[in-house]
Amino acid sequence: MRKSVLIILLAFASQLVSAQYLQTNQDMEKKIEQIIEQLTLKEKVAMCHAQSKFSSPGVPRLGIPEIWMSDGPHGVRGEINWDNWGYAGWTNDSITAFPALTAMAASFNPELAHEYGFSVGEEARYRKKDILLGPGVNIYRTPLNGRNFEYMGEDPFLASTMVVPYIKGVQENGVSACVKHYALNNQEEWRGHIDVHVDDRALHEIYLPAFKAAVEEGGVWSLMGAYNKYNGQHTTTNKVLMNDILKGDWNFDGVVVSDWGSAHDTDESALNGLDIEMGSWTNGLTASKDFAYDDYYLANAFYEKLKSGEIDESVVNDKVRRILRLMFRTTMSENRPHGCMNNQEHHDVARKIAAEGIVLLKNDKNFFPIDPEKPMTIAVIGENATKSMTIGGGSSELKAQYEISPLEGIQKRFTKATILHSLGYTSGPSAYGKVISPTENQDSLRLAAIETAQKADIVLFVGGLNKNHHQDCEGGDRLSFDLPFNQDALLHDIVSANPNVGVILVSGNAVAMPWLKDIKGLLQAWYLGSDAGYALADVISGDVNPSGKLPFSFPVKLEDNAAHSFGELSYPGDSINQYYKEGILVGYRWFDTKKIKPLFPFGYGLSYTNFEYSDLKTNKTSYGKDETIEISFTLKNTGKLAGAEVAQLYVSDPKCSVMRPTKELKGFGKVSLQPGESQEVTLTVPVSSFAYYAEDGKDWVVEAGDFILQINSSSAQNELKQTIKVE
Ligand code: BGC
Repeated sequence: MRKSVLIILLAFASQLVSAQYLQTNQDMEKKIEQIIEQLTLKEKVAMCHAQSKFSSPGVPRLGIPEIWMSDGPHGVRGEINWDNWGYAGWTNDSITAFPALTAMAASFNPELAHEYGFSVGEEARYRKKDILLGPGVNIYRTPLNGRNFEYMGEDPFLASTMVVPYIKGVQENGVSACVKHYALNNQEEWRGHIDVHVDDRALHEIYLPAFKAAVEEGGVWSLMGAYNKYNGQHTTTNKVLMNDILKGDWNFDGVVVSDWGSAHDTDESALNGLDIEMGSWTNGLTASKDFAYDDYYLANAFYEKLKSGEIDESVVNDKVRRILRLMFRTTMSENRPHGCMNNQEHHDVARKIAAEGIVLLKNDKNFFPIDPEKPMTIAVIGENATKSMTIGGGSSELKAQYEISPLEGIQKRFTKATILHSLGYTSGPSAYGKVISPTENQDSLRLAAIETAQKADIVLFVGGLNKNHHQDCEGGDRLSFDLPFNQDALLHDIVSANPNVGVILVSGNAVAMPWLKDIKGLLQAWYLGSDAGYALADVISGDVNPSGKLPFSFPVKLEDNAAHSFGELSYPGDSINQYYKEGILVGYRWFDTKKIKPLFPFGYGLSYTNFEYSDLKTNKTSYGKDETIEISFTLKNTGKLAGAEVAQLYVSDPKCSVMRPTKELKGFGKVSLQPGESQEVTLTVPVSSFAYYAEDGKDWVVEAGDFILQINSSSAQNELKQTIKVE
């Protein structure tokens, strides 16, 4: 068949498909209106709030099902009791734990994000969940935020690029993703009431893009409001965020779910866009009397106002319309797959993401990879070599069917080596909202670790943070940028006992590294889920060549971070208000523009091989504002091992009527190459993405003039560049 004929046929077929889609969509909307006509006011109101900790009611009389929700985002959480936070003790709710979203972001691989979403969606479906409470896309503003591990880093383009395929993957299973926490929930300290003040430019350029992408490109079916306030009003019931931006500008047709206890007022909840209220009790957050559901803001009080006419019935109809739409997409969908869980495919995906997310930060004299065929003694030291990282951390806690620890992973792969193990320190068990001190004698643990280090050829120190309160955990922030539990001092002693030390940092956050110059190798290993130990051993042994890149900058010291450089009113605020004084200069935008050298820059990560960039070309030299630029260059693997490189496209606007960051990420591509292989890589970028948000006109503006395109191997390492003109 001639190519042109084929193209016409394909276009015709896609028109048919979209016409069919329109038809089914129209049918669905018609059915929804028919159902609304049959519902009593009481039934409508009932659909707008919880009936248990994780479900909202259907209409039994009409066979309309309940909606069942579950955390999210790294796997499907164990079953919680009907009316309290205890685990229900089911025996069929153990799942695959996937790596934390920071690890996914560090893979810079959107295809993997899709596999992640699809697999966790299959597990949610099998567990009969209709809404999976995730993913989270709050921007990394401070390394102290206890929940950064659940998010996708500091850059809005990276977070947007990764969140879309995750959402699509989840929803292909007839399960709604629920993007959270909208918006400006960038710290846990005072999260229930802190009033965030941020300029419009930062709001639109930094904090909202990933949510916008989730809605407009990901087609997400539900979204969770956050706990904090924005400009004096709680975000979950914030007129500007919900009515004007989300449901107005972005045309969101899905359901807004409150965070658990983030609604505080009936009028605001009714009128400012909240559709399903979860987890409330009128005295604040999650404290609750038994069966408080009738007292929710969108329950009896809402009903009374509707009945008296104080609030128009169209308000509840809009909510019910959205809820029914979500039901038709999920629990009432006719062709919904059945899901599956704990299958080998899911574990393979989890392991692949984990291994691709690990970032090699330092590798003196090729410390890594360590040859598994060589008989030697390896000392594995540190509590994180054995501590469970799927337990704790708050609502993202998981009941994993199994969890391979780093120690087990290393033992299983390095069968020719003698593996010694020593804890070095302990941190106490994880408990929500409180710190429980360890019972072990820390001095004895330290001495034992030093002795173990002396006996080994190589030391692998597996430390970092953990999922305890005030570490990487919901409900509180870290209290210090330093490593906790005296690990700095311990590392100092270990290095004195044996200079051959590699550090494996298990964390979702940057930490201070006073020992960096003294160690030989460093891997940033995040929280890697069920197959953590396998994935780590894959990278340590060289079975997998590391290709992860940092999704956020590591400052040398806390004050170098933008939010912290402005003092307490900027972070954490004065307990009532908080001012994002750094504006748009978040993460590398700050380090670049202020010429502060980070310890490790955004986008940084080494490989066991080397790459060479050459021959940058653009398809033209001058572009209109609606055009798309094609940038091509050659990438060559000049080393001896197969590997993958993340080439990053940053754009600078050197002359602009408003302040611009030195450069901003606008594209990236991950390319796998055999040793010696070269490939021509093409990245495309629409000129419209160069725009800044003009506060006066409340619009996006690209000013004509020169723009510099940089192809980089990290935000701090330029490889190629070219200037183009925008007319
Ligand atoms: C968290 C949400 C979570 C919800 C339900 C809240 O405390 O902020 O992320 O989905 O609880 O567990």
